[in-house]
Amino acid sequence: MTAPKKLFIKTYGCQMNVYDSERMAEALGGKGYVETKTADDADMILLNTCHIREKAAEKVYSELGRLKPLKDLKPDLKIGVAGCVAQAEGAEIMRRQPAVDLVVGPQSYHRLPAMEERLRQGQTALDTDFPEEDKFEHLQSRPKAKRAPAAFLTVQEGCDKFCAFCVVPYTRGAEVSRPAMRILQEARDLVERGVREVTLLGQNVNAYHGHDGGLAGLIRALAKVDGLERIRYTTSHPNDMDDDLIAAHGDVPELMPYLHLPVQSGSDRILKRMNRSHTAESYLRLLERIRAARPDIILSGDFIVGFPEETDADFEATMDLVREVKYGYAYSFKYSARPGTPAAERALVDPKVADDRLQQLQALISSHQYEIQRSMVGRDVSVLVERAGRQSGQMLGKSEYLHSVHIEDCTAGIGDIVNVRIVEAKTNSLTARQQ
Ligand code: SAH
Ligand code: SF4
Ligand code: F3S
Repeated sequence: MTAPKKLFIKTYGCQMNVYDSERMAEALGGKGYVETKTADDADMILLNTCHIREKAAEKVYSELGRLKPLKDLKPDLKIGVAGCVAQAEGAEIMRRQPAVDLVVGPQSYHRLPAMEERLRQGQTALDTDFPEEDKFEHLQSRPKAKRAPAAFLTVQEGCDKFCAFCVVPYTRGAEVSRPAMRILQEARDLVERGVREVTLLGQNVNAYHGHDGGLAGLIRALAKVDGLERIRYTTSHPNDMDDDLIAAHGDVPELMPYLHLPVQSGSDRILKRMNRSHTAESYLRLLERIRAARPDIILSGDFIVGFPEETDADFEATMDLVREVKYGYAYSFKYSARPGTPAAERALVDPKVADDRLQQLQALISSHQYEIQRSMVGRDVSVLVERAGRQSGQMLGKSEYLHSVHIEDCTAGIGDIVNVRIVEAKTNSLTARQQ
């Protein structure tokens, strides 16, 4: 028998890429590859890339530049680029960095084994199609090895929303939902392997339509899977939060009280220019309904500052919205012009002004985040134990609200769900004692 080849995958970008990297490793597992944790001893290096902001894409080229000397030392080393930069740039990647052997877009991962054959024959391989066939149907089924108690599960891909700033509809294609039966089967397999919590993934996960009753229907079906204790989903669009999904937050105990619902801006003028097709007011009313269904829900969001033509007044509207919502978490980004998107043609806000706004917004968000963490002190939460901490007796996990919790003197093991009392709030985590 030949020794297994070693595969090193480096993942950038969103959770969908994390999930895809697992599936790519499994697909190449069928070709005799096992994963390794460093690039140095790898026979194949795959960069699973993100194109969302300019910096993210540039990082890929600098990383490829760093990898080139490794290939000079070891000519048999294969270097591949997957993910959204692969989709957006295609053959240009090989032109810019000739050390690259393989470029594969997100919809073609099931073709990786065949592409690897080409590499064995000393050829290069490029595939950035949006194939007719469903890649999930053709991907290697997931192996049975034990795994961590929290897992991602992609249920929907692509986006039809075309926000004026965003590359995702171009890199991931149109919205496609996986059939519910397949997802339920994958969830059962994950549970057999030790998983207690799944986060359902999609670029627009609440536009899922592979089950009667959409995402809410799927969540209700998953809640019945024995041994699956916790369900989350991300990322959602405000326009796809239907009544039943809101109701599910109140009546499905397995659905965790945490929701990431990006709004991007608090100014209606900017929202319109962004092609978001909702207003700040409609978003706030929506949150009211979600909070009525699940009063303790923790909300999270995404914001872009310095979108073309954003004035001080527009930015103040965003600050006002954040003050009104008080997010438990929120992610804010400086606008980055992406080639091929409608907004890329428009005049930029002065970068210094945009930097200043970003700092103000992040300071406000952090103050709320910390305030909410402090308000958890003295409260009882349930924690899914995910790993051992650095100090003896300490275990780490996530509360139902997605807070990172350190449990002191913990008697529970990995995969247990324990009730604990929060005793201290630190900047990025909470400390708790078992009840
Ligand atoms: N599908 C998700 C996530 C898209 S990407 C959604 O609709 O919310 C994640 C976040 O990156 C976005 O929510 C947005 O805040 C940010 N983003 C996307 N394009 C960007 C750009 N051109 N410049 C800066 N931030 C951007
Ligand atoms: Fe991008 Fe908008 Fe689609 Fe989200 S909804 S992926 S921000 S186009
Ligand atoms: Fe990035 Fe693609 Fe995800 S652009 S954020 S990796 S969908």
